[in-house]
Amino acid sequence: MSMNPYLPIPARIEEIIQETTSDSQDVKTYRLKPKTVIDFMPGQFVECSVPGVGESTFGFASNPLVKDGIELTIKRTGRVTQAIHMLSAGDTLWIRGPFGNGFPVDFFEGHDLFFVVGGLGLAPLRPLIEYVLDKNNRDKYGKINMMIAARTPKDFIFTYDYDRWASCRDVHIYQTIDAAVPGWDKFVGFPNNLIKDIEFDGQNTIGLICGPPIMIKLNAAAFKSLGIATDRIYTTLEMRMTCGLGKCGKCNIGHRYVCLDGPVFSMKELDEMPGEY
Ligand SMILES: Cc1cc2nc3c(=O)[nH]c(=O)nc-3n(C[C@H](O)[C@H](O)[C@H](O)COP(=O)(O)OP(=O)(O)OC[C@H]3O[C@@H](n4cnc5c(N)ncnc54)[C@H](O)[C@@H]3O)c2cc1C
Ligand code: FES
Repeated sequence: MSMNPYLPIPARIEEIIQETTSDSQDVKTYRLKPKTVIDFMPGQFVECSVPGVGESTFGFASNPLVKDGIELTIKRTGRVTQAIHMLSAGDTLWIRGPFGNGFPVDFFEGHDLFFVVGGLGLAPLRPLIEYVLDKNNRDKYGKINMMIAARTPKDFIFTYDYDRWASCRDVHIYQTIDAAVPGWDKFVGFPNNLIKDIEFDGQNTIGLICGPPIMIKLNAAAFKSLGIATDRIYTTLEMRMTCGLGKCGKCNIGHRYVCLDGPVFSMKELDEMPGEY
């Protein structure tokens, strides 16, 4: 992080990858080379700005163990993300961070992991997937299941990673879409209705959920009914943020600041907070 956490540093766009090909959403991954190395842990985020337009919050989407650049995966939704989507390789983004708590990777050691993600929800979990699959870390974690959901086959992101992830020891990847389409031979339906058909040990599993709020709630309930205690179910929240530093009060839930105390929370913590997410 720069000495002044309000002062962004320049990051050159090295490459832009078009992730989705559907008409309903436009998601791109930006490979960035910041002026100085940004060390981050899975689950942390940056504030990213386009001068004259504004600043927005994005989770790191790349391998935290790779130090020569970072990746942000950005869906076009409004003013700032539209402006970012207009940029090209060679242009500059301005970033501040890393901010937030990140996933408790040490606490996860010795456990199996079950990722349930919806659409863009895979982006903030990708650093954790890369971290646990790294050759120096893989033995610290048990079996890994991933249920990756998307509205349609064209809405999956990071599809170029799936074969590499699945080739690692004890990694099982399942894909599901909302409604059947011709040619699709994988799961159909919402993940909360499907995870009960996957073999896993609820007593020794960490459940990781990222997606829209309704998906978080339904899958947390499904995990609970399958034996995963709420202090072993984790999610990452996307509240509106401004400062990212616990100063502006924009992102609070009750007395907790999502930018400072989160964005990663266990369901046990969320159950004790007002249901505002
Ligand atoms: C910790 C964190 C991590 C995030 N990671 C990513 C990421 O990896 N990739 C990504 O594409 N987006 C991510 N977001 C969401 C992203 O910050 C917003 O989509 C972005 O700020 C929208 O800015 P805009 O100016 O383009 O849209 P605006 O013009 O501000 O808004 C456009 C629309 O998006 C909605 N919106 C804006 N911000 C949010 C938000 N935080 N949550 C839900 N809806 C919102 C608005 O209500 C409006 O409908 C993250 C948010 C947080 C807090
Ligand atoms: S974004 Fe300012 S307090 Fe969290």
